[in-house]
Amino acid sequence: MSSSTATSTNITWHAGDVSRNERAQLLKQKGLTIWFTGLSASGKSTVASALEQHLLHKGINAYRLDGDNIRFGLNKNLGFSPEDRTENIRRISEVSKLFADSSTIAITSFISPYRSDRDSARKLHQDAGIPFVEVFADVPVSVAEERDPKGLYKKARAGEIKEFTGISAPYEAPESPEIHIRTDQKSIAEAVEQIFAYLVANQLI
Ligand SMILES: Nc1ncnc2c1ncn2[C@@H]1O[C@H](COP(=O)(O)OP(=O)(O)OP(=O)(O)O)[C@@H](O)[C@H]1O
Ligand SMILES: [Mg+2]
Repeated sequence: MSSSTATSTNITWHAGDVSRNERAQLLKQKGLTIWFTGLSASGKSTVASALEQHLLHKGINAYRLDGDNIRFGLNKNLGFSPEDRTENIRRISEVSKLFADSSTIAITSFISPYRSDRDSARKLHQDAGIPFVEVFADVPVSVAEERDPKGLYKKARAGEIKEFTGISAPYEAPESPEIHIRTDQKSIAEAVEQIFAYLVANQLI
């Protein structure tokens, strides 16, 4: 573990007595991170939640880290400026990595609009030897705007929300996500099935 970017000095990484492999063997489960990205209302939380439920019913431990929820607690001091969005994602990357390291399937559902931030999350996992599966919940803005379950697009169009992704802030679509789901063309159950099939095919579960 590199401490080159840590602000604190005089800190030393303390490795535990149980290796990740040993933990996975004992718990009969490997950890990984499933990282959802997509516009607001693209279906990240909806599919992530259904996936979490499906995995748990199969006896596989999974835990969801969801954008809005995390902003109530861990990240409540962050807004939606580019810098704060980057810090938001950096913290989530670290937390999801910890969950995955503990042999859990960490499922994150954040807009995570910047490619560079998602790539940093991927690199963090790769460097630690933890699988990272990027899921692009893809819908045209027009469909997301029509769904508008939280009324956010309406507010953004009225100028009441500044820096709203897809309207007044950029969304950089993934170029080669592991999984690409058009949620306007697939049901929630089909989306879960697609992700589950990927995990099985790649021996991740
Ligand atoms: N096939 C589908 N997959 C996912 N969501 C769907 C689908 N069809 C309709 N929906 C609806 O679209 C909406 C998606 O909202 P959801 O909160 O999951 O989006 P989100 O990507 O998490 O947005 P946000 O970034 O604002 O949290 C829900 O109201 C859901 O019921
Ligand atoms: Mg959501």
